[in-house]
Amino acid sequence: MAEQLAVKGGPKAIPDGTIKPWPPIDDVDRKMVMASLEGTNHAFGPNCTAFEKEFAAWNGNKYAITTNSGTAALHMGVVACGCGTGDEVLVPAYSWSSSATCALHHSCIPVFVDIDYDTMNIDLDKIEAAITPRTKAIIAVHLHGLPVPMDKLIRIAHRHNLKVIEDACQAHGAAYRGKKVGTWGHCAAFSFNQNKCLCAGEGGMFVTDDPALHAAALQLWSFGETRRPGEGRDFHAYAMGWMYRNDDLGAAFGRAQLTKLDGYLARQRENAEALTEGLRGVPGLILPEEPQHCVHNWYNYTLRFDMEQLGHAEDASDFRYKIMKALQAEGVETSVWQAFILPAMTVFQAKNGFGEGHPWSSPHARPVDYSLHQYPNAQKHSDRHTGMTTPLRAPNGPDVARLVAHAIRKVMENVKEL
Ligand SMILES: Cc1ncc(COP(=O)(O)O)c(C=O)c1O
Repeated sequence: MAEQLAVKGGPKAIPDGTIKPWPPIDDVDRKMVMASLEGTNHAFGPNCTAFEKEFAAWNGNKYAITTNSGTAALHMGVVACGCGTGDEVLVPAYSWSSSATCALHHSCIPVFVDIDYDTMNIDLDKIEAAITPRTKAIIAVHLHGLPVPMDKLIRIAHRHNLKVIEDACQAHGAAYRGKKVGTWGHCAAFSFNQNKCLCAGEGGMFVTDDPALHAAALQLWSFGETRRPGEGRDFHAYAMGWMYRNDDLGAAFGRAQLTKLDGYLARQRENAEALTEGLRGVPGLILPEEPQHCVHNWYNYTLRFDMEQLGHAEDASDFRYKIMKALQAEGVETSVWQAFILPAMTVFQAKNGFGEGHPWSSPHARPVDYSLHQYPNAQKHSDRHTGMTTPLRAPNGPDVARLVAHAIRKVMENVKEL
């Protein structure tokens, strides 16, 4: 007999307290954070420079600059790549808002490219149609930790003399053809925000192998100056600069977590495999894939509902929320990652970033069209997905993943009751 759904008064499939929060904290974190606290430099201190060195070594980059967010690192990438007023930057139509607003920060114009429904990443076959004489760069977002096929993307970029900025904010440790993300493009950005695979509370890292890009990014990072704290600053704004530096406490936490990152990622992979194993063949579910040559980091395990099969193509998004409510009642920590595709967000539809329609109203900008019919895959994905992060993360193990799979199966087997 079918189990009664928790949302209908039945027992919860996942007892409260089963799924442990992220990130696990141990004595390594306590020691390093306390040592920073007891030190004398709480601003851009010794943990910051050490974090840069260690992260660069871990990822395989020549240069790293620690920042107070992934968004700051993306903005630094836009500037380092020489993008300026009216230059167009290609961005996938489905991502985090700042994958696109980082271009606006420097008066550049985001131009959206639809995603590939299967991978959820930018559709490489649609990039060339979006390129104009004003296009300067592509932001390659490795969404949810699945790498973009970078060899093909870089071939397109070379053909059109474009810079490639990797948004690796979700993709620590992901790799394509055996090479880590963040080492393929001209530069890349990582995030260390609470929910990311490397959590430092908040924070980020700009990485590059190019000394000129490194120098340009440094200038934006700290008040337009050319020297870093501790390097004999002259406190002179040589260019437009922001204040994107990290602080010592956050960097100490990030360094401590970095010592455990490979172990966390291995656990995440085990958990994703257990979840996939437990969900294979469930009618109405589309499972995430790891295409050939890709190493996924499983930052977000994203389920899509096959609404045609479930008979809900017309009310796809509403029905998705009904399924999610039932999943949540069973104890599955699941959420909609982005309910809006990027071009549908008000700042883009209104085409007003800084007032007076800037940067779109700039005489240097070409008119762009954000009509939403151009992004059918992004919209379809946004309407039909739900994602999970915490159950996949350490310290949770495959036993928890199997319980989550059981709960999802329970809901999907009784989906007609919803
Ligand atoms: C794909 C992507 N890009 C950029 C960011 C921005 O990172 P941060 O929140 O550290 O600024 C995020 C964070 O959520 C993200 O998921």
